[in-house]
Amino acid sequence: MNNNIKNEIDNLRELIRRYDHEYYVLNNSTINDFDYDLLFKKLEQLEKENPGLISPDSPTQRIGSDLTKKFNSVKHEFPMLSLANTYNEGELFEFDRRVRENLPAGEIVNYVVELKIDGASVSLTYSGGKLVKAATRGDGESGEEITANVRTIRSVPLKLREVEGGYDLSRIEVRGEIFMDLESFRKMNEERAASGEKTFANPRNSAAGTLKLQDPRIVASRNLDIFVYYLLSNSGQLQKHSENLEILEKLGFKVNPLHKLCTSMDEVIKFCAEMDELREKLPYEIDGTVIKVDSLSQQKTLGSIARSPRWAVAYKFKAKVAQTKLLKVTWQVGRTGALTPVAELEPVFLGGSTISRATLHNMDEIRRKDLKTGDTVFIEKGGDVIPKVTGVVPDTRMGNESEISEPENCPVCDSRLNKPEDEVALYCENPVCGAKIKGSLIHFASRGAMDIEGLGESLINMFADLGYLRTSADIYKLRDKAEELIDIERMGEKSIANILNAIEISKEKPFDKVLFALGIRYVGAGAAKKLANHFRSIDILMNASEEEIEAVPEIGPSISRSIKEFFSNPLNIEIIDSLRNSALNFKLGEPDQMEKKLFDGLTFVLTGTLSGMTREKARDEIERFGGTVVSSVSKKTNYVIAGESAGSKLDKALQLGVEVLNENQFLALLGEKL
Ligand code: IVH
Repeated sequence: MNNNIKNEIDNLRELIRRYDHEYYVLNNSTINDFDYDLLFKKLEQLEKENPGLISPDSPTQRIGSDLTKKFNSVKHEFPMLSLANTYNEGELFEFDRRVRENLPAGEIVNYVVELKIDGASVSLTYSGGKLVKAATRGDGESGEEITANVRTIRSVPLKLREVEGGYDLSRIEVRGEIFMDLESFRKMNEERAASGEKTFANPRNSAAGTLKLQDPRIVASRNLDIFVYYLLSNSGQLQKHSENLEILEKLGFKVNPLHKLCTSMDEVIKFCAEMDELREKLPYEIDGTVIKVDSLSQQKTLGSIARSPRWAVAYKFKAKVAQTKLLKVTWQVGRTGALTPVAELEPVFLGGSTISRATLHNMDEIRRKDLKTGDTVFIEKGGDVIPKVTGVVPDTRMGNESEISEPENCPVCDSRLNKPEDEVALYCENPVCGAKIKGSLIHFASRGAMDIEGLGESLINMFADLGYLRTSADIYKLRDKAEELIDIERMGEKSIANILNAIEISKEKPFDKVLFALGIRYVGAGAAKKLANHFRSIDILMNASEEEIEAVPEIGPSISRSIKEFFSNPLNIEIIDSLRNSALNFKLGEPDQMEKKLFDGLTFVLTGTLSGMTREKARDEIERFGGTVVSSVSKKTNYVIAGESAGSKLDKALQLGVEVLNENQFLALLGEKL
């Protein structure tokens, strides 16, 4: 093996690790995206050319392509305990009293106060400085192994940084909380709602749900993050929790900076109050603080009872609650035609803002909470800024409240509503309902789809009301109406020119964004990307059978059915044809020079039956990237792609030690490059 290449690969990895650490852990990047991408592509290329040098701790190896069939159960070396809760100052003093009672009289006790991050706890095991295992808490005794998913989280180091003073890294366990920040949570839910997918109730559920996905590639796209708060090691070098937090930081972990070493209970209480104040402004959810005895030997003396340590306690913040009147319930019609009830409230100030509306999700929720118009209700705001109606204030009914009933007709177009058998929501089925049209247009132009700057909700509503926009295809015809648009009240020549320009620029958007923008029910941004990479053009997707569509990893029957339904509607075909005439991308572009070279000089053998594509298609793809397909396996073969019932060629590959990829791995190899 060429030593120079090995060195080059090692240097690139170190460099990329450093930039990743700066960007994802320290929030302080010193390289621009373009230069970073160049380094990354260079490393990918060298590894492709030298597959023997690929190692699991390389920054290129975060996202595996194997689907997890079943999460294995793993026993925790030390149980993952939970915390007892306290809710007020008195209970905190009580905790402090118990701590002192169980320690030798007169010993000084210091506490570290940290934020209680509202996510999913995880245990990370490092061996020889490399991440070897990640597990969920489970029942505290054993959890599920989720290593492939956790590896995709960019703030989780795959390889630890060297610490001065020769810290013993032979085997350490680190615990922390995986979470989704509020911005990512909102964006993900918006996209899911826009594509008719179920939304997550809160960031905690979305983090926990994401960690249990079978496809690490989807996990990677979800922007999970971590704060670590616990270091277990057998090195005997540890004395204080506060020092451990410093070591964790030096090893490259993300430790929440909002923690404090307190030498008195007064300090503890003051810091907890400060954090409660700060809570609204944090970009992630917390549900309290955690107070921990700093000395590790004191922790040991204190031990634990009933699954909770005696040396730590959670202090839970009170939810911010207000009372107000439910004036009425209005019904909002979404892009898919689904109706959502919205509580119109007497404006009330709560947790930093005035609230006058809150979503009620669906009729079941209204019934469950027994809400009536005119009721006095509790409004609650968690760490998240989305307010909830939690229930009726007892003993406030006057007798003049009125039942809330579901509408029979669409509040926007007045057509009769329909309730599908297995759904809770009512639907407006009128394809030309104004609300659905506007919703589809807003989705089409939105940031995650065609990203047409300046063409937001209010402008779309106005253009639709004036008859300029009926379908997304009309957006690209606005140019012909420039003169008329300039005459519209308050719209200057300059702003129209800017919007028309943004519309032109959007034509460059790649196929997967266009596919997402079409607004096919259940086809979110992630699914659109997968479908685009797999089928490569809208014509192939249009002609694919439901089975062929479901052969794409993570694409299930509801998506495939919805796609077939979408393409069977002549109105949609008309829109697509018109968009095509406006030169939007309905197929993937050719790979660029850099990508073309990715399979350069590599030979592949195809064997067995591929389920998602024909052999011919697989061959085309390999050749597009500069690779060659040969018919028999030899020592010189770089990859064998093995489908169902692969036979002697697979045996030969295994015998010769040639790398074998299954269909999913092959697709991922292609997908990641497209
Ligand atoms: S310490 C024995 N520190 O809260 C120590 N936990 O109710 C146990 N959590 O399962 C954990 N932030 O998922 C600790 N700074 C923090 C935390 C934290 C969030 C979660 C964790 C734990 C749960 C306990």
